[in-house]
Amino acid sequence: MRLLKKNVLITGAGGQLGTRFAQAFATEGANLWLTDQSQERLTAAASKLPATQLLGSLPMDVTNPASVERVFAQVRAYGALDVLVNNAGIGVFTPFWERDYAEFMQVMSVNAGGTFLCTREALRIMKDQGQGAIVNIGSLYGVVSSDPRIYTDCERMNSEVYSASKAAVIQLTKYFAVHAADLGVRVNCVSPGGVFNHQGEDFVSNYSQRTPFKRMAKDGDICGAVIFLASDEAGYISGQNIVVDGGFTAW
Ligand SMILES: NC(=O)c1ccc[n+]([C@@H]2O[C@H](COP(=O)([O-])OP(=O)(O)OC[C@H]3O[C@@H](n4cnc5c(N)ncnc54)[C@H](O)[C@@H]3O)[C@@H](O)[C@H]2O)c1
Repeated sequence: MRLLKKNVLITGAGGQLGTRFAQAFATEGANLWLTDQSQERLTAAASKLPATQLLGSLPMDVTNPASVERVFAQVRAYGALDVLVNNAGIGVFTPFWERDYAEFMQVMSVNAGGTFLCTREALRIMKDQGQGAIVNIGSLYGVVSSDPRIYTDCERMNSEVYSASKAAVIQLTKYFAVHAADLGVRVNCVSPGGVFNHQGEDFVSNYSQRTPFKRMAKDGDICGAVIFLASDEAGYISGQNIVVDGGFTAW
């Protein structure tokens, strides 16, 4: 119970990883605010948590300042916010030569803009408390370029903008780690490798070959680093990016 009675807010909590993170936090004794732009996904994620540990399921679009401010006002009115997990994210999988500017900006807006907006609102609460922890969800592709040899079926190209937006998340982590240190807030990042979610056979096979562990991640593989960085065990750690990728970026 490393997070007993801690209040945790997760963005994109209705997604594959967000739902799993919420369950992992609940197992550690935390109480949860689930947020997502999709009400349907929120309902499904909430149904997997003990009702006593659910503070609320709140629809929130991380690209919309008014929506973000409204949700964090509700969180502040309730009480402490101990942990924020900036998990909401999107990718686009078409080749870069087909990218239009609006699509480019949409990915930047969710991944980098959303991380900024939610971090700003959380810090406004956490600075008054004098404590808190923020865990951003980056990607291995914020650290290295994707390897084009993996993407042989062209149906699921990793995009330039996804990589750029996740590099921005890692840099936002470092900036806020430095500038929120005096507020008593730690800010770290977890960068997952590719998580298995029934992608095409070619992709899964190519990706697995390229990975020292010879497989994609399972969603549960990512939880340990997130829980650790959110907990007091990481009390002297800030500004770090833990890459959880089965060794993909090690060679
Ligand atoms: N799955 C992977 O292989 C992988 C690898 C590396 C990093 N990541 C990162 O992990 C995070 C979670 O990914 P996932 O695989 O669970 O994706 P997912 O698509 O299953 O979940 C993402 C969630 O974010 C929500 N969302 C999208 N736009 C939003 C917005 N504007 N406002 C609020 N919510 C919004 C979606 O409704 C969805 O529930 C993302 O940041 C992703 O980039 C995933």
